[in-house]
Amino acid sequence: MVIEKICCLGAGYVGGPTCSVIALKCPNIKVTVCDKSVERINQWNSDKLPIYEPGLDDVVRQCRGKNLFFSTDIAQGIQEADLIFISVNTPTKTFGNGKGRAADLKYVESAARMIADLATSNKIVVEKSTVPVKAAEIIMKILRANTKPGVNYQILSNPEFLAEGTAIVDLIEAERVLIGGEDTPDGQKAIQELCWVYEHWIPAKNILTTNTWSSELSKLAANAFLAQRISSINSLSAVCEATGADVSEVARAVGRDSRIGPKFLEASIGFGGSCFQKDILNLIYLCECLNLPEVAAYWQQVLNLNDYQKIRFTRKVIESLFNTVTDKNIAVLGFSFKKNTGDTRESPAIYVSQTLLDEGAKLNIYDPKVEPDQIMYELTNPYVTSEPEIVKKNVEIHDTAYSAVTGAHAIVLCTEWDEFKTLDFQKIYEVMMKPAYIFDGRKILNHERLQNIGFHVQTIGKRL
Ligand code: NAD
Ligand code: UGA
Repeated sequence: MVIEKICCLGAGYVGGPTCSVIALKCPNIKVTVCDKSVERINQWNSDKLPIYEPGLDDVVRQCRGKNLFFSTDIAQGIQEADLIFISVNTPTKTFGNGKGRAADLKYVESAARMIADLATSNKIVVEKSTVPVKAAEIIMKILRANTKPGVNYQILSNPEFLAEGTAIVDLIEAERVLIGGEDTPDGQKAIQELCWVYEHWIPAKNILTTNTWSSELSKLAANAFLAQRISSINSLSAVCEATGADVSEVARAVGRDSRIGPKFLEASIGFGGSCFQKDILNLIYLCECLNLPEVAAYWQQVLNLNDYQKIRFTRKVIESLFNTVTDKNIAVLGFSFKKNTGDTRESPAIYVSQTLLDEGAKLNIYDPKVEPDQIMYELTNPYVTSEPEIVKKNVEIHDTAYSAVTGAHAIVLCTEWDEFKTLDFQKIYEVMMKPAYIFDGRKILNHERLQNIGFHVQTIGKRL
């Protein structure tokens, strides 16, 4: 079968950018991205896309209406497609068996059931969502238990490795594409058909093929390794602060060993984002179910350290401000979980803000790309606070950094947006309360210069 039509179920941070790039690179394939959310699809079809991602607008503008379509007509998308990506969300379960750890596969299951109900011809079904090992078996069971005459399914695992903020470059210049499938002639044929799609722009040597379970586990493993590096360097940041070593110097020295490498050694207030915590919890749960408690405990420590880092930083802010922030104005610069995205899922800024609010602070929050409603949504979420009215009263969202810092006792920098590096700190010092404090949770500012202006400065992994 030559793949002429692709459908993607789930028009989120993965489905949207991934399919836009496939459409860009495969002009002869019709790509339809479907979602059950009418609002999301309307945004994909508008001038203001539902997600901020550098370069995405351009790609969508070039392909939309030609070979790229966003639609809520899931039935048509499924029926006409040769290949269907399942790219729905797989959040951590919030109830029942495995609560707080296991992945909730209800959206994957419902996507599989939709395919089983609606498909009238052969399909390659590709699991792109991040799932526990053996999740493809669920999809297989649902599809194969409901097969109609003349309809055959092949199920592949093709996890996504893009990072938000660099998604388009990550997709266009992917270091690797991973495809797992069954070790049968039909399974191998399906793998080759998906390889053919990627080979429109990815060199064949960068496309790895494995069995289905290796592919699923590799995705969890990759995220666990990346998060583990951050927890490792963050653990050392505490040692640096206690000894006078500088974590940036340590990272540079350690990372120079080519066996270790320099990337992902940036100490921070802790990692955020929708996946690291979720996927490690997923791995931990899997290990517990497999009766591997030592392995589970090993990965649990990566998460414990991440919580410790967020707590440690916030405690430092409060202690420096004479152990009380009640009624003090604090400017929070940056709310997304990293720069170049408007995504706030699991952002460390949420924990920092909530703790300061619990201590009675008044927060003035500015982020270049996060919508004000999204900030309020995160801070009034019942999992975060039981007092949404206090949050609404004590939080003000600003549209510039300068307005957020005016009258503030302290600045707490939570996201490493480039624009924060070039702020006029002399001007900022003049409009702040004195003594004026800056807590640089991302190590991006020129601390010596700030001290010369008169600021009291604290950062991660270095005594100042
Ligand atoms: P998301 O929440 O942004 O998008 C998921 C979309 O799926 C939502 O719009 C939802 O309405 C839709 N959906 C759910 N069930 C559906 C159904 N049955 N039919 C049609 N649409 C349905 O999630 P995301 O960030 O794109 O993540 C998707 C998956 O990719 C997750 O498993 C995640 O772990 C993985 N992943 C995410 C990233 C990332 O950077 N965000 C990177 C790699 C992998
Ligand atoms: C991460 C992985 O990098 C992707 O490969 C993966 O596909 C994705 O998760 C996923 O599965 O969802 P993402 O979460 O978008 O991507 O962004 P990262 O660049 O990995 O950053 C995650 C968090 O770690 C951010 O809060 C970031 O600030 C923090 N971080 C990153 C550090 O604190 N230090 C570092 O050195 C690097």
